[in-house]
Amino acid sequence: GGTSGTARDLDGRHVVVSAGGTREPIDPVRFLGNRSSGLQGVEIARAARKRGARVTLVAASVGVDVSDLDPGSLVEVETTAELRSAVRSAGGDADVIVMAAAVADFRPAGTAASKIKKSAGAPPPTIELVENPDILAELSAERLRPGQVVVGFAAETGDADGDVLEHGRAKARRKGADLLAINAVGDGVGFGVAENAVTIVDRDGETVSTGQGTKRAVAEALLDAVVSRLAR
Ligand code: CTP
Ligand code: CA
Repeated sequence: GGTSGTARDLDGRHVVVSAGGTREPIDPVRFLGNRSSGLQGVEIARAARKRGARVTLVAASVGVDVSDLDPGSLVEVETTAELRSAVRSAGGDADVIVMAAAVADFRPAGTAASKIKKSAGAPPPTIELVENPDILAELSAERLRPGQVVVGFAAETGDADGDVLEHGRAKARRKGADLLAINAVGDGVGFGVAENAVTIVDRDGETVSTGQGTKRAVAEALLDAVVSRLAR
């Protein structure tokens, strides 16, 4: 990939990108969250802009400087519910939606109205969790706009059930997105670092292309794959 990084091949297109990590409040001062910096999604937004697209960046606690992006294109969110409604409202007229955000799989069943206190001798509290909606699967099943290209990311680690690619291909078949960018995480790869490597697969789990190097280079490779899917 990365062959057409300077082309204006997204001219006139609206690209919605979610980035960062959602946070689910436990009480007024605490949340459940994750380590996503949002850099990969921000690089996709930047690259899409450079290629001529109008971009909406739905930013969930993004930890990188986005002051180079048009403030009007930025929607800041915190929770998964907020991210879902922002993506769905911006996505209605989008040609492309890229779900690069690390979305919390679960949220506390309730949020305490005041700070949870400890008390001597009392057992630690239990936080009951409920599952969040799968935004990518919903977008893939519904298609907010005909011909819309829906893209997801899969951060995987290998385990006893399979390697990174096996898990990613199975996820692609479950989610139904047009494209899924699979990347290995853990051991200093993926989260919080500038370098990344992805295998881009289709909804059948078949490899479309690969991208590696900086997160910017990965963004360009992903957009190459997106452009090749957009109806002319
Ligand atoms: N995603 C989403 N809504 C969720 C969870 C994930 O839209 N509730 C999206 C992410 O933005 C990403 C893709 O789905 O584009 C894959 O996320 P991932 O966490 O790898 O997959 P899950 O289906 O949550 O599976 P698991 O975490 O159990 O591996
Ligand atoms: Ca998940």
